[in-house]
Amino acid sequence: MITEAPALNELNPNVAAMQPSATLAMAARAKALIRAGRDVISLSAGETDFDTPAPVVDAAIQALHEGFTHYTANAGIPQLREAIANKLRNENGLEVQAEDVLACNGAKQAVAQTVLALCRPGDEVLFPAPYWVSYPEQARLAGATPIAVETTAEADYKMTPAQLEAAITPKTRLLIFNSPSNPTGAVYTPDEIEALAEVLRRHEHVFVLSDEIYEYVLFDAEHTTIGSLSGMGERTVTVNGFSKGYAMTGWRIGYMAGPRWIVDAAAKIQSQFTSAPCSITQRAALVAVQMDKAPIDAMAVAFRERRNYMMERLRKLPGVLCPKPEGAFYLFPDVSAYYGQTSPDGTRIKGSEDLSFYLLEQHGVALVPGKAFGSDAGVRVSYASSLDDLAKAADRIEAGLAALV
Ligand SMILES: Cc1ncc(COP(=O)(O)O)c(C=O)c1O
Repeated sequence: MITEAPALNELNPNVAAMQPSATLAMAARAKALIRAGRDVISLSAGETDFDTPAPVVDAAIQALHEGFTHYTANAGIPQLREAIANKLRNENGLEVQAEDVLACNGAKQAVAQTVLALCRPGDEVLFPAPYWVSYPEQARLAGATPIAVETTAEADYKMTPAQLEAAITPKTRLLIFNSPSNPTGAVYTPDEIEALAEVLRRHEHVFVLSDEIYEYVLFDAEHTTIGSLSGMGERTVTVNGFSKGYAMTGWRIGYMAGPRWIVDAAAKIQSQFTSAPCSITQRAALVAVQMDKAPIDAMAVAFRERRNYMMERLRKLPGVLCPKPEGAFYLFPDVSAYYGQTSPDGTRIKGSEDLSFYLLEQHGVALVPGKAFGSDAGVRVSYASSLDDLAKAADRIEAGLAALV
């Protein structure tokens, strides 16, 4: 079997330039160790440990029994697009109709299609770092240049209006904005988002992709949809989905909504790549988007308790700087004080990859190196695990860091 291209330039150069997903790679390594019988606690996953709410599961079963198992319209079933448009109007203040909504195979596909539809070779795509791993790679696939705007733990990993202003050039095509954020959990306040919008209003050539996938995993904060602010609707695509808020990662359903010419272009890409999302999943999503939010809120309450526990444990570790995230299910402590130190077996910890690898191999706890998110100073700690597992994992991180000299 031929396993490698004869030379890298045999591939589409845009594909050759892409990196595989580092978060999935770390989760796979942890799973391999567990399969080999090692005691590993994985805090590397990007998904909740809760079950999909029962009414959603029931809707899928009913769809199956009714034989709703065929292709649907490419953009999704009309009832789902209508229900999503309602949600976006009522909860997010977006002026959208069903025709402005495209149901996709996950928010990831919605992000990819927005980037592919809008970005041309040579365009620049901005996003704050630490960033979700797919943003730069999807920009590269479009032939565009990813530009990360560095943020720090001291600034709660938030990009300031001045930083945004300084990063915009005549080539800037798209700002990808993600609040609550993966990997930092940072949530911008309504005032902070308005201040960023104020900068964007001065640069009419810049479009916005607002990735709001963690909208419902929110603690003591308010969610603001940048596309609802004055003058922003015409150039903002809002992406959201069911994976995180409804514990539906495996169902593969997300959506995008925004200016119809962009949504139509994304629908064209979807029609040639994947067609519509799974028919059964769409029926389940239709129930999810209309259901009572109590089970969703209960998950956020549990995450808040876990955030508090894990954050306190990490903040007690010498040299670790851990901002308080107000959403998602990640902490992103700055652990760079440990770089340059040496493990008991003589390995020098040069950065987040060495540290994560050391903690996994020597102490049985899997985190994701910050380098994968464009910020080597930190590591991503997912707290979508039971409090028992979090306690054990915190003990292991503590012992691992204490053993470094
Ligand atoms: C910031 C962000 N956007 C989008 C996605 C994709 O979600 P989906 O499962 O809907 O494709 C993820 C999943 O990890 C994410 O963290």
